[in-house]
Amino acid sequence: MGAQSAAVPQVANLPNESISRNMDSVQPEAASPTIVHNHDWDWDSFDPGSYRYDNYRTVRDDDRQIVELVRDFFVQAEVDPGGRAVDVGPGANLYPSLAMLPFCERLDLIEFSAANVRWLRRRRGAFWARLDRSWDPFWRIYAARRAYREHARWVAPLAEFRRKATVRQGDVFELPKAEYNLGTMFFVACSLSTEVTEFRDAVNGFVRSLTPNAPFAAGFMTGSTGYEVAGRWFPAVPIDRAEVSRSFDHIAYDVEIQPIDGSHPLRPNVGMVLATGRASAT
Ligand SMILES: C[S@@+](CC[C@H](N)C(=O)[O-])C[C@H]1O[C@@H](n2cnc3c(N)ncnc32)[C@H](O)[C@@H]1O
Repeated sequence: MGAQSAAVPQVANLPNESISRNMDSVQPEAASPTIVHNHDWDWDSFDPGSYRYDNYRTVRDDDRQIVELVRDFFVQAEVDPGGRAVDVGPGANLYPSLAMLPFCERLDLIEFSAANVRWLRRRRGAFWARLDRSWDPFWRIYAARRAYREHARWVAPLAEFRRKATVRQGDVFELPKAEYNLGTMFFVACSLSTEVTEFRDAVNGFVRSLTPNAPFAAGFMTGSTGYEVAGRWFPAVPIDRAEVSRSFDHIAYDVEIQPIDGSHPLRPNVGMVLATGRASAT
């Protein structure tokens, strides 16, 4: 992904007074720490069309690395293809969903923002499923492996997406327990508030929604203090690789944390890591 373009704090989308006004970069107190809790933010103002255009209209080099790693991880994970998969906080990114298509019979996309839910439901419509070829470059990377190639031999991947996916409005902090056999969560836990406790709770909620031994892949921005979508600022917490690793302690095993080569980062001092692993028994 991209998700995190320039962080330009603005007050325009502050939904209530509980959020400190020093998000406004022109205020002298802008350098002081500002707390934004997830449920205080106006997620319905997220612009999915703009987000997709900024981040996924082409395959960035960092996303290519992630897609290849996730593909190879799921191919060797020996998942029963009759099960249920989940992508948490998909926003306007369909590549995590595509990664799981050959390995599930049903796929839940659980998204908090009403705007993103609408956008995702349109992608499931007959028109988009048939005519939207914009995800084909991502699918071609998956299709380098036979499991993917054979899966979508007769149909376009979005037609399979339409058949298997259900878009639900939901909350990473209120996911069902031990429900899914496979899961992804990309650039969500790190990018939903300024609070490291909420980062940890989001990772915990995601992994706990998986059945014991279920494989998962999760992407994280490191060092991000926020991102802009269509001129609106959204919160992030500047975690590092060690924090990502700690967040899986006691809830997952065989966890691998892989830094993504950031020769062309979205902006200076921001990186990406990919975590793969399996959910522990609760
Ligand atoms: C930076 S975007 C990442 C989108 C996408 N997964 C990607 O890879 O680009 C963060 C996403 O988290 C979603 N989100 C924010 N709070 C959430 C919550 N409490 N539960 C689930 N999703 C949430 C946002 O609506 C947004 O789609």
